[in-house]
Amino acid sequence: MSEHVSDSHEWQTLQGHAEKFAAVHLRELFDADPRRGARLNAQVGDLYVDYSKNLVTDEVLTALHALAERAGLGERIGAMFSGAHINATEDRAVLHTALRLPRDATLVVDGQDVVADVHEVLDRMGAFSDRIRSGEWTGATGKRITTVVNIGIGGSDLGPVMAYEALKAYADPRIECRFVSNIDPTDLHATTHDLDPASTLFVVVSKTFGTQETLTNATEARNWLLAGLGGDAGADAVAKHFVAVSTNAERVASFGIDTENMFGFWDWVGGRYSLPSAVGLSVMIAIGKEQFGQMLGGYHTVDEHFRTAPLERNVPALLGLLNVWYDTFLGAQSHAILPYAQYLHRFAAYLQQLTMESNGKSVRLDGTPVDYQTGEVFWGEPGTNGQHAFYQLIHQGTKLIPADFIGFSEPNHDIATMHDLFMSNFFAQTRALAFGRTAEQVEAEGVPAATVPHKVMQGNHPTTTIIAPKLTPATFGQLVALYEHMTFTQGTIWQINSFDQWGVELGKVMANQLAPLLTGESDEPAGDSSTAALIEHYRRQRGR
Ligand code: F6P
Repeated sequence: MSEHVSDSHEWQTLQGHAEKFAAVHLRELFDADPRRGARLNAQVGDLYVDYSKNLVTDEVLTALHALAERAGLGERIGAMFSGAHINATEDRAVLHTALRLPRDATLVVDGQDVVADVHEVLDRMGAFSDRIRSGEWTGATGKRITTVVNIGIGGSDLGPVMAYEALKAYADPRIECRFVSNIDPTDLHATTHDLDPASTLFVVVSKTFGTQETLTNATEARNWLLAGLGGDAGADAVAKHFVAVSTNAERVASFGIDTENMFGFWDWVGGRYSLPSAVGLSVMIAIGKEQFGQMLGGYHTVDEHFRTAPLERNVPALLGLLNVWYDTFLGAQSHAILPYAQYLHRFAAYLQQLTMESNGKSVRLDGTPVDYQTGEVFWGEPGTNGQHAFYQLIHQGTKLIPADFIGFSEPNHDIATMHDLFMSNFFAQTRALAFGRTAEQVEAEGVPAATVPHKVMQGNHPTTTIIAPKLTPATFGQLVALYEHMTFTQGTIWQINSFDQWGVELGKVMANQLAPLLTGESDEPAGDSSTAALIEHYRRQRGR
């Protein structure tokens, strides 16, 4: 694959389409084809995806599929699923899909049956979460565990917290999960200050077990536990109140957590893809191993679709290609995620790491710089809150912001009429965004001439609607896998490595270098004059 996809005639074809597209309006596309809405939709698992309100014609879709062929998307999918080392810069396989293979599957990678390994850990997690849920596992003083505090950051936090919130309707109400990620001590304080140490379990999650934030929080949490338990609480108490999730047994042991209480995973699971691994332990404790299994089943349904469906009917590939169209060819800078489901209130934050840590790259796999846009900014809030905050800019601003609307037909509660009202907003918004309101329509309402331009909605704002019967562990797993594979598709077209994250390393190194300057342990020059002045200011305010 030494050829650059951006030099191909498929790429040029799309550039040609993009130039013509300024003059195309969704109103015309719908007028020209009354069946557009019935035609441009797809189904994957339980997810119905309407992509008819996107700024595409059949020619553009054909050209995008041709681009995917040219980029070797089919082969790259095969390579990922088979365990090839497609994370070339770290020489690793990328096998999060193996985490959701059924027990009777086999996948031998580097001489090892990874499915057997995965299910061995799932079984241990299941047995452990059963013991917590039943009350058989108690804290050091014999009290039942009623709060689980997950300590982790990035992929070791965002997945579990997002999934716990999403699946709250399925959680055991006797156990509350809380999440600490920030090294700002306020986070640990706010999370633990009202807890009883005797009934609290900490799950320390870190793939590397070397992350400053997590180890610092875990050390403080251990101090808090031992101080709270009082008396001569020591290693035995830690063993009853701390478990670890990591790939690094040695570091877990040297931190003082018994590796008997450690749940492992593997270097072929990227942090931002790790929710279905042992990283999801707190979620399993909350919803139980059976429902966790249903979530994995949901992921697997979409995995199988992505692996086997032809490109023209491959839904995650389609979403990825649409994003490439907007980002690279039409110049969009961002992408809004708008779940009409309060339980998905952390979904956009989760997707930010998934998509932006994956595709925030400007060098191709072969080391050459890209000369096109990659990695759009993902952001969003649940509807209808967003409607009263930032939607105005999407409706009448000057920016191209493709948006995904995610909704569920059936609510997770009995307030059914209110759900209908809520969902009417869901359908109304994509309609208003697509079709807007013309000057003639505004005038016909008797609006004074001077106000007419302000009330015109130009429309033509692209949206994709994803609707599932109900938010369940299974549909949730399907949704997350859909976005994982969408992200992979984009990275493949852009010929970048979606699985490393060297960019975040530099800041970590510098923080370690600057820490002694802040405390006054060192008076070394801070380097540049701006940072030096800022640290001086900070030290003065801290009385150092
Ligand atoms: O932010 C960089 C990163 O390496 C993420 O990719 C990862 O999810 C996070 O830090 C946490 O890493 P770990 O699980 O090793 O503590």
